[in-house]
Amino acid sequence: MHSLVYRSVASDSFELPEIYSMLSNAKEYNTEHGITGCLLYHNSHFLQLLEGEKQEVEQLFKKIRHDPRHHDVVLIENEDSEVRLFNEWSMAFHDYGQNGLSAHHKLRQIDKFLSKSNVFSKKSSATLEFFSNVKDILFAY
Ligand SMILES: Cc1cc2nc3c(=O)[nH]c(=O)nc-3n(C[C@H](O)[C@H](O)[C@H](O)COP(=O)(O)O)c2cc1C
Repeated sequence: MHSLVYRSVASDSFELPEIYSMLSNAKEYNTEHGITGCLLYHNSHFLQLLEGEKQEVEQLFKKIRHDPRHHDVVLIENEDSEVRLFNEWSMAFHDYGQNGLSAHHKLRQIDKFLSKSNVFSKKSSATLEFFSNVKDILFAY
């Protein structure tokens, strides 16, 4: 198992309707290639976790990295991992800016949801660590 995390900035014309349409293709591809993960979107910034076989993850990241719908792609993590955090999600997606709720409130909702999920029941420390990193990165600018 391999985990890769990057962050990037959405191009001006790449907004929610386009993101949802991209995601429906992405989910199909990811399911076919054994890739799971999570895409976070906030204030035009993306943070994405890709999980799967190393070769599959790196092959997909090569395509994503060159996608003109975002820029300033920064690789944050790229390593073997024993845990597949999002093993039930071909690509979980969350927009922290939707519905006018504050990002902080949204993060708390997500934390609560994840802590209830079976996927994480035995790995709460890893989950918390992951989301605490997510928080640090999202609020770093
Ligand atoms: C922020 C972002 C996240 C993306 N995530 C995925 C993904 O998880 N899976 C996927 O197949 N494509 C994803 N894409 C789309 C790929 O960059 C690419 O368009 C897609 O793999 C099709 O590539 P192809 O036309 O060269 O086959 C993402 C694009 C962006 C901008």
